[in-house]
Amino acid sequence: MAHQDALRRPPRAPSAPPPATAAAPARTARLLRLPGVYRPQADTLLLAGAMRREGILPGMEVLDLCTGSGALALHAARLGARVTAVDISRRAVASARLNTALARLPVSVRRGDLLSALRGRAFDALISNPPYVPAPADSPARLGAGRAWNAGPDGRLVLDRICDGAAAALRPGGILLLVQSHLSGPEATVDRLAAAGIGAAVCDRVTVPFGPVLRGRARWLRAQGLLSHEVGGEELVVIRGRKG
Ligand SMILES: C[S@@+](CC[C@H](N)C(=O)[O-])C[C@H]1O[C@@H](n2cnc3c(N)ncnc32)[C@H](O)[C@@H]1O
Repeated sequence: MAHQDALRRPPRAPSAPPPATAAAPARTARLLRLPGVYRPQADTLLLAGAMRREGILPGMEVLDLCTGSGALALHAARLGARVTAVDISRRAVASARLNTALARLPVSVRRGDLLSALRGRAFDALISNPPYVPAPADSPARLGAGRAWNAGPDGRLVLDRICDGAAAALRPGGILLLVQSHLSGPEATVDRLAAAGIGAAVCDRVTVPFGPVLRGRARWLRAQGLLSHEVGGEELVVIRGRKG
């Protein structure tokens, strides 16, 4: 059975500092999700705010990698873009197709492993909320709901591949907007993008309380040196890159 969700701003802990740039208020579109498909949350909303500020214009061609329920693809389509959305999960693809059909918005949803389904196409903008949570080696990174967040011991299993492929997927002057956690090395993303010809920097930050996945993994993260004892929340960042 499908779950219904509102893409709405999540509650923040009273102690959490305000974001450097607040995520723009999200539309309250109701999204259907088959079981196991990622529920749009703080990272989705942070990236949605950055997209709105970036000025996605009517007619622009936008690629949403790791689309899940299609929340960000729909957001781009509502801003007027022609959108292609990709996810590796059959359930995510079915959910995104359903949501875009219900919204009557022109989003092409494809199943595939990152850029493999696109046959060398280039876009004006690439957006992505990929899996980025560091995970013990025995965590399932390929199957089940965990595929939405588990990203190998350093959290960079998918991030590095996106960095390496982004230049080929963008037209000259094309924009990349990517959200990740401080736990998976935003500096590594910036450096890797630079090496691929995409000048990049962090453009948004927000600190959110640990969710159940990180709470359950906190001891392991500390043992890996990825989380210090003083840190009481997860910092999410949006990285903005531009292909020269
Ligand atoms: C954190 S969720 C984000 C979903 C959605 N963009 C959002 O913000 O609500 C990450 C998504 O990446 C997908 N994914 C994981 N590995 C992938 C890959 N190699 N290629 C394409 N999609 C992938 C998962 O199935 C999941 O739907």
